[in-house]
Amino acid sequence: MTRPLRTALAALLALAPAGAAPAADGEALYVQNCALCHTVDGRGFPPGIPALKGSANLADPFTLVANTHAGGAYMPPFPALGAEEIAAIATYVRGAWGNGLGPVTTEEVAALMATTADAAAPAPRTIWDGVYSRDQAARGQQVARGACGLCHGSRLNGVPDDNDMKPGPPLARAYFLRVWDGRTLGAAFTYSKWTMPQANPGFLPDEDYAAVVAYMLSLTGAPPGAEPLPADARALGYITIGPKP
Ligand code: HEC
Ligand code: HEC
Repeated sequence: MTRPLRTALAALLALAPAGAAPAADGEALYVQNCALCHTVDGRGFPPGIPALKGSANLADPFTLVANTHAGGAYMPPFPALGAEEIAAIATYVRGAWGNGLGPVTTEEVAALMATTADAAAPAPRTIWDGVYSRDQAARGQQVARGACGLCHGSRLNGVPDDNDMKPGPPLARAYFLRVWDGRTLGAAFTYSKWTMPQANPGFLPDEDYAAVVAYMLSLTGAPPGAEPLPADARALGYITIGPKP
């Protein structure tokens, strides 16, 4: 679509009566919450992270709402998103990239959320609550040295694009806190699992990806606690990344 046409359409939509489509900005919410894994163009990182462009699982909004609200096998839940926000995201995803599916209302989403609520959901925590163990971080250091260090540096400081190692961003400290602010450890775990190492994503066991996340937290200065991080995107979706309180 050309830009003037798109602008004209947006102006028309702004005049449309409220009530049909949710008021929240679905595209902005998608970019903020979903694009890390499913990418802005909806292609994802298949096979681990499926494409939402052309997905047959969107026709019935159930999967979309259930995954977003309570998580999937590897998709982390988004407990902070309410029915109106999920409806806006669902409406955007169903209409984007030529998917051609109609809007979903806040009422429909609220009803689906009630049936998919996770009764076993843990209480929300942050990375500053002692969420990983010292042993797990030590194990993560070993894993990272072998599988991640070539591109992210042996202390996960990142590798610049100007030497003979492969370039990758830092995975710890201030940089990590800034880039990952507001996301959860579920996102860090699943993104690592299904996109890293780049040449061979998913080749490590889940426990090793969780251990690297623990190592990232220890380098960032988050305190260890008694229990290791669970190697489970659903449980990790309740632990938020953010600045030190
Ligand atoms: C951290 C990575 C990650 C993020 C962020 C993420 N997802 Fe997913 N998503 C997955 C994975 C992995 C699957 C595959 C099913 C599974 O393993 O749970 C999936 C599956 C899905 C599916 C099913 C698609 C199909 O064809 O089977 C939908 C719909 C979906 N996600 C929507 C969303 C929406 C909407 C958001 C944002 C609110 C989102 N996802 C954020 C990782 C992610
Ligand atoms: C061959 C090089 C390479 C290896 C090996 C590698 N990565 Fe990456 N990684 C990258 C590059 C390049 C990026 C930035 C682009 C992207 O996100 O795909 C990245 C991005 C990331 C990100 C997102 C960082 C951000 O702030 O956006 C995470 C998390 C990550 N890697 C984790 C890991 C883990 C964990 C391992 C080891 C299991 C690993 N990577 C191994 C090259 C690599």
